[in-house]
Amino acid sequence: MNVALIESKNMLSLESKNLNSVAKQFRCPEGNEGIVIDELLNENHDKMIRQSIQSLELEEKNRVLELGHGSCKHLPYLMEQAPNIKYFGMEISELMKDEAVKINSKYIKKNDALFQLYDGYKIPYVHNIFDRILAVNTIYFSENPVQFLNEMFRVLKPGGVFVLTFANSTFIDKLSSVDSDVFILYDEYKIKKLIGETRFESFDIKERFERKKTMQGEWIDKSYSVVTLRKKPKELIL
Ligand SMILES: C[S@@+](CC[C@H](N)C(=O)[O-])C[C@H]1O[C@@H](n2cnc3c(N)ncnc32)[C@H](O)[C@@H]1O
Repeated sequence: MNVALIESKNMLSLESKNLNSVAKQFRCPEGNEGIVIDELLNENHDKMIRQSIQSLELEEKNRVLELGHGSCKHLPYLMEQAPNIKYFGMEISELMKDEAVKINSKYIKKNDALFQLYDGYKIPYVHNIFDRILAVNTIYFSENPVQFLNEMFRVLKPGGVFVLTFANSTFIDKLSSVDSDVFILYDEYKIKKLIGETRFESFDIKERFERKKTMQGEWIDKSYSVVTLRKKPKELIL
């Protein structure tokens, strides 16, 4: 996968790097290169992240969990969607967690946001605690995606919503690609099959497009999917 082929002012510093090492940085940014990767992600994912936040349909006092938030420059946008939101960010990258803490100190001081590291598998919270869950460009890195989604199901409240967003493998194939064992790519068929193996019963998928320019100056449509998964309200659980 070579997301880095999308035009970027940061591209030059990555060009000479081995693409598999860049892919590993996408999975868990670290060091100086991790900072460059984060800037690249922010440049390219802003619209995708905003669309995903809108799909959360946030309501007053919602408790929101986000997996893989990166440096979380989108927190102000998320917080302005509804009053009195409590935000909980979980990362596997210490660098990204630390950047998010620096950038969002205003929310942390007010006890409206908390950023934590975890092992990437077990969310350190009890069952049925979050109203909303968000994961953008994170599913690719899960070695056991069924377990990953079931863990989200466990911590989601009955009636809660989980928004899962990913760039479609068809779009990524249009870019010059490298074989990488760091990523698992998804398309609509593959994500439906995956969800069918989890505890989620109700979901819908919206495909979105964004015009992007490649390093070769060619315009392409970036295709990504916003999947909204719902946990049944309590009265409907038998
Ligand atoms: C490709 S970046 C995406 C960052 C941001 N969400 C975006 O769309 O620009 C993937 C992020 O997810 C984090 N990550 C990878 N696997 C994770 C997991 N199992 N749980 C939480 N975060 C994870 C990485 O550390 C990295 O910050």
